[in-house]
Amino acid sequence: MSLLESRNLCKYYRLGHNHEVRALQEVSFSMEKGCWLAISGPSGSGKSTLLAILAALDRPSSGEVFFNGENLSGANDVRLARYRKEKIGVVFQEYQLFEELSGLENVCMPLVVSNLNRKEQKERAMILLDHVGLADRADHLPRQLSGGERQRVALARALINDPDLLFADEPTSNIDKKAANMVMDLFQTFKEQGKSLVVVSHNEQLTRAADRILHMESGRLVQ
Ligand SMILES: Nc1ncnc2c1ncn2[C@@H]1O[C@H](COP(=O)(O)OP(=O)(O)OP(=O)(O)O)[C@@H](O)[C@H]1O
Ligand SMILES: [Mg+2]
Repeated sequence: MSLLESRNLCKYYRLGHNHEVRALQEVSFSMEKGCWLAISGPSGSGKSTLLAILAALDRPSSGEVFFNGENLSGANDVRLARYRKEKIGVVFQEYQLFEELSGLENVCMPLVVSNLNRKEQKERAMILLDHVGLADRADHLPRQLSGGERQRVALARALINDPDLLFADEPTSNIDKKAANMVMDLFQTFKEQGKSLVVVSHNEQLTRAADRILHMESGRLVQ
């Protein structure tokens, strides 16, 4: 059974009476557990739209997504919230950090509903911040961090619940080579644990490390 499968996904945005954006058109693919899948394609080709639907943050106009054989398109909001909380981690293209919380508190955020106490939460978050090279920035607010540092805080947050599947949208777009290598190592370690990744990236090094590449153009997968 595939870990993740999409069948004929379409996403249309209606803007006004006779203008419609076809962000996704009949997107079908499947990936196995333990796979690192890269998604590439020009700006506006639908990569972030696809990621948002696979991560159950948005609903498709038509088509279906299956996770471990379960049809997410038919699932209710409670079920989808559990999928997001327990099974997946997401790094957004715009990071979406809480501006009033420190780096450390941002990373701890998904653990608020866990049964770990405050001290255990902070310990786990510090380990991840260390892995992304930001142990000495734990107390900074997002506005006191550089773009690349914010991006790495978002990555640490996505990994804190130890997800089976990580979705990352341009996770190295804002960082230098050294920090990108750190992210690369983190992804590789994650995969060695038998976990799976879907990574949107223009970074050749990251894309080369993937098991498979899906190319998108104008909302469609192209070979
Ligand atoms: N809320 C929306 N309403 C209308 N159109 C939208 C909306 N969100 C995205 N689009 C359009 O859908 C298309 C796909 O957008 P998407 O963000 O998925 O592209 P992308 O491949 O991630 O691009 P980039 O590489 O620039 O991040 C674009 O043409 C965009 O303008
Ligand atoms: Mg995008």
